[in-house]
Amino acid sequence: MDVEELATRWRERLESWAIPARILAEAPVDPWAHSPVRFASRTDRALTEPDGGPTVTRVLEALPEKGSLLDLGSGTGASSLPLHARVGEVVAVDESAGMLSGLEDRAGKVGVPVTLVEGRWPDVAADVPVCDVAVSGHVVYNVPDLVEFVRAAHAHVRRRVVLELTHRHPMSWLNPLWEHFHDVRRPVRPVAEDVVALVAALGYRVRVEEREAPLERFVSLEELSLSACRRLCLDPMRAGEVGRTAMELGMWPVPRDRWATIWWDKE
Ligand SMILES: C[S@@+](CC[C@H](N)C(=O)[O-])C[C@H]1O[C@@H](n2cnc3c(N)ncnc32)[C@H](O)[C@@H]1O
Repeated sequence: MDVEELATRWRERLESWAIPARILAEAPVDPWAHSPVRFASRTDRALTEPDGGPTVTRVLEALPEKGSLLDLGSGTGASSLPLHARVGEVVAVDESAGMLSGLEDRAGKVGVPVTLVEGRWPDVAADVPVCDVAVSGHVVYNVPDLVEFVRAAHAHVRRRVVLELTHRHPMSWLNPLWEHFHDVRRPVRPVAEDVVALVAALGYRVRVEEREAPLERFVSLEELSLSACRRLCLDPMRAGEVGRTAMELGMWPVPRDRWATIWWDKE
């Protein structure tokens, strides 16, 4: 399959995750939003318990001492700030001002210089300096135009691009609850292999490593229930019922995801 076909498949498969309009209309809050508070605790955990997994390894392998690291869809910095001892500058791009502000606070504490660029990658690429290495952790399932995202990342590095993502769509853990509460069956694709195929079709020599996620998705049933209410467009008053259902369906504790690290070099 050529790049165009793979790009179309990726977009269509992501679109198949759209929430039916009748359910979305009842949503008390945006079911797709990422919470800066939740991601800040992920970053704080990554800072105190650095994860020596393949994403970190592949970034460090290519990063010169005190080199520049471009973090695409940075959130509060979980993929870049834990490398602060080796990084000369983090250039963080995110469409959320709240996320960038959380990253700026944490970068100040660990003493790494940051440049913040608010906006959607690659729309803001012209405002972003070329860096040694780019990392993008848990972003691509939000990106319908993946070819443009990947090409612009490749054009903005001197050495390597590293992507980290869950093997299957990050909302897949909710599938039994979608069936229970809304009688809706969620899709299976896209998966990490679809990203690999697309990057390879672009002509980059892509490599992949998979592992079990280093973090559990939720620390408590309460946290799971509140998150599920938001994702399923349910009133948070139903969190108790959601939690009981999750127990009955054998969803707690949530099994750890598989994470893929996908990388390629500038040749
Ligand atoms: C799931 S969070 C991951 C954050 C961080 N990379 C991490 O690993 O914790 C996804 C982040 O990507 C941002 N995002 C999604 N698509 C983006 C795009 N095309 N350009 C810039 N930011 C994007 C969101 O605002 C959000 O902060």
